[in-house]
Amino acid sequence: MYGVTELGYLALGAKDMAHWRVFAGDFLGLEVVDGSNSAEAFLRMDFWHHRFILEEGPVDDVTAIGLRVSDDDAFEKLASRLGEEGIVHRICSNDEAERRRVLRLMKLQDPDGHPLEIFHGPLVEFNKPFHPGRRMYGQFVTGDAGLGHIQMAGVDIARFLKFYRVLGMPGDIEYKAELAPGKISELAFVHTSGRERQHVIAYGFNGTKRMNHIMIESNSIDDVIYTYEMAKQTGIEIVLDLGRHSNDFQYSFYCMSPSGYMMEYGWGSRPAPVQSEYYAADFYGHALLTPPPWTR
Ligand SMILES: [Fe+2]
Repeated sequence: MYGVTELGYLALGAKDMAHWRVFAGDFLGLEVVDGSNSAEAFLRMDFWHHRFILEEGPVDDVTAIGLRVSDDDAFEKLASRLGEEGIVHRICSNDEAERRRVLRLMKLQDPDGHPLEIFHGPLVEFNKPFHPGRRMYGQFVTGDAGLGHIQMAGVDIARFLKFYRVLGMPGDIEYKAELAPGKISELAFVHTSGRERQHVIAYGFNGTKRMNHIMIESNSIDDVIYTYEMAKQTGIEIVLDLGRHSNDFQYSFYCMSPSGYMMEYGWGSRPAPVQSEYYAADFYGHALLTPPPWTR
């Protein structure tokens, strides 16, 4: 199997670890696991050792996007292909891979300078069932679909699509939408060849941070409504109201994370369609309730 199979993990720089631990555990329902020191914490959502690594530091933004390949053969093939394309990458030491709890690891940047880590062989702990940080109706949707999806800052769509195709991640423009009066915005999306998740990375807006938003998904619509109500009751800022996207069918809302980018909490997504199509609007909803973080 060639290419990236899923969004495996994210490393997130965090200025305020205490705030993030409460946000992740008590609000989102992720399991917070202490790291080797107070400047590190792991967030779980399934049997994996972690799906997020919180790293205390001066940068409130994503510091690594972990993209999984299936095995060592796929890892070697992708490294060769990057070499043929002249894309700079570094195969990491065993120690570096061990710190990420993976068998092998390489690091590179995408054309916008976003930090990528390609790996295979994550540590999966079937001896340690997921324990949510607070009550949940259902479970997080991961499995072959990965942890969810992300939207990254950048506006050179042709360059974005060309680069991620090298990683085995096809996609195209899926929205041409009038998000501001008289201005059509184009957004592009890439998925994996398995198509389990309609998109893994979204792209098309500039931003003051690399990360625009992270989407996590439950298999129960009640978790979306419950989390939405909790946001309202606890004063967590909701940026985009409840709504349903036309491309991935996600029924979701977007709220502000402690790092100044958004978290999308959703339910009901579909796999990537076999044939391309694009949309001018969502099913309904997703009204902008406050100015988007990157415009402030
Ligand atoms: Fe999203």
